[in-house]
Amino acid sequence: MEKAKERIAYLSNLLNEYSIAYYTKANPLVSDQEYDKLYKELLLLENQYPDYIMDNSPTRNIGAKVDKKDKTVTHEIGMYSLDNSYSMVDIREFYTRLYKSLSVYPQLTVEAKIDGAAVSITYENGLLQLVATRGDGKVGEDITINAKYINGLPQQINYLGKLVIRGEVFMCKDVFHEINKARGSQGLPLFANPRNVAAGSLKLLDGKELKNRKLDIYIYGVAYCDKELATHKESLDFCKREGLPVNDIFYMCSTLDEVETSLSKIEQLRFDLPYDIDGAVIKVNENSLRDIVGYTAKFPKWAIAYKYKALQVSTKLKDVVFQVGRTGAITPVAVLNPVLLSGSTVSRASLHNEDEINRLGVKIGDTVFIEKGGEIIPKVVSVQLDLRDDNVQDIIFPQECPVCHHELIVDENDSKRRCINIDCPALVKGAIIHFASREALDIKGLGEKVVEELYEANIIRNYADIYDLKVDDLKDRDGWGLQSAVNLIDAINESKSKPFEKVLFALGFRHVGVIAARLLADSINNIDNLMSATYSQLDSIKGIGSETASSILKAINDERMQQLIYRLKDYGLQMTKVSVNNHNNILDGKNFLITGTLDKPRKYYEGLILSNGGNILSGVSKKLDYLIVGQDAGSKLTKAQQLGIKTISIEEFLSLYNI
Ligand code: IVH
Repeated sequence: MEKAKERIAYLSNLLNEYSIAYYTKANPLVSDQEYDKLYKELLLLENQYPDYIMDNSPTRNIGAKVDKKDKTVTHEIGMYSLDNSYSMVDIREFYTRLYKSLSVYPQLTVEAKIDGAAVSITYENGLLQLVATRGDGKVGEDITINAKYINGLPQQINYLGKLVIRGEVFMCKDVFHEINKARGSQGLPLFANPRNVAAGSLKLLDGKELKNRKLDIYIYGVAYCDKELATHKESLDFCKREGLPVNDIFYMCSTLDEVETSLSKIEQLRFDLPYDIDGAVIKVNENSLRDIVGYTAKFPKWAIAYKYKALQVSTKLKDVVFQVGRTGAITPVAVLNPVLLSGSTVSRASLHNEDEINRLGVKIGDTVFIEKGGEIIPKVVSVQLDLRDDNVQDIIFPQECPVCHHELIVDENDSKRRCINIDCPALVKGAIIHFASREALDIKGLGEKVVEELYEANIIRNYADIYDLKVDDLKDRDGWGLQSAVNLIDAINESKSKPFEKVLFALGFRHVGVIAARLLADSINNIDNLMSATYSQLDSIKGIGSETASSILKAINDERMQQLIYRLKDYGLQMTKVSVNNHNNILDGKNFLITGTLDKPRKYYEGLILSNGGNILSGVSKKLDYLIVGQDAGSKLTKAQQLGIKTISIEEFLSLYNI
């Protein structure tokens, strides 16, 4: 029973994290299949143990929460998602369910499922009024100002009544490849797939950049229309007549056989289309029948997505290497004969853990099938035993850490061997990279390469050390220079204003992901409370399972971790949860610098600025919003005046912001 409770908490948090990554960051962490598998497991467990259902269960919410800082808009009509199916057996069951509910077999439509980002569009009096992202299905983000950059979406239509339509914004494959080619030649990181870029681009603020992204749209449904529209077909035809872009891949079906034929027709078309589709959507045509069939909390029961299986190709497994992750987990990685798989060359794939290798029965030299689930990291899915020859070799798991040679222990929870040496360079570097990563303290410029360089040069040996870094430590290094050094130091200083929950996540306690860190920050309030927390206090926090509670307890009782945390506190990182009600981030995003002598120590005022959402820069640059000037100010004041930057006294600053 306890195990079930824990698994439910674990799955709920994990799926929420996946969901946030997918919907609001447009950066999926796992394939749809993997997500669905875990989701179904959670559903089953929740059915068996309803008492353990979590308040934040993903089965109770339509999707991920939107990013609060964005301009949000509440959808007048909720934006549902689609239930997924992967076989004709599922489709047959869907058809039977419809029959049970309607006592007739309804007419169905089958159309392409475009792989992009969903938007809701409202026209009133013939004018485009609102375009919003899906967000969590209830609240999305207002992106109307970006709508003029979506190709083919009219700003005006003839129909003068109110019309709310739903569609998928996408990027054509050739545009995607062009953009990636340009990014590659500029040394920028490549985008993973067209869907991610389309979703991310919708939120871009820079119109020129957005125009370059050449986004397209297909409308796939009418959510509301003043005029009566009796069927889906009629709705789409109406949209077409109004000049709205509607995809032509559309079939009307009266039997399950016709549905099957349509699905395979669309599947065959798949690779010749200029845009990605990830399946087909089957919908009840008649609106009155849709009303009878109804909805679950997340999906319409009158529609279902038929998702294509991820693409597979076969290649030779040349070798297996073992990587050490941030948590010390040793992950076997397959080294492959390079093959082309959905548009990119793959030479490495994941083998997860020892259990997976045993389950697959794979050996070095085997011919294996690999697949890209949702085009993330490819994985080895099966072995072609009939092609095995005598030269194959067993995969031998290392008994010691490949990086520091410390002994490994097997973690019962995930069957992974782990290096438990906290000084292992792989763990230390991984911890720093995690600390600076986007979801954590988002220190731009402190990525894998820079961490590697500064660690190897003995300049930083843990994540607290980065706050001791000075421009002088960096500017003369190979490949650096004054500007890049200043930028990094500024980014490091900016991280001091990141909220407590981000700091908690950045610390990298095992099992404490974004969501657990938020729950922890909400209930524990500040770092001192956390440092003195007991197991039962931690375990009683909703959403924190016993495994997570134990791992937090272990971390806060570790002397070296305590030292790191106290150092971070001294450097001025946010160690208290800021309550939304009594605190407003009035200095949000504003950059300050203090020069000269003030009535209180400079650190005091810097803390004030940071805790109100402002940043402290390391020097005078155009990025600076205000130079706060005390007595006997020198060259910084002169430089600020030359650059035309506003200078104010500390009294003016305090009264300006009413702090
Ligand atoms: S219908 C209430 N039709 O797929 C039903 N969705 O996985 C709403 N999508 O959020 C969806 N092509 O963003 C529908 N022809 C199509 C679609 C489509 C792409 C997307 C849509 C939806 C997601 C669900």
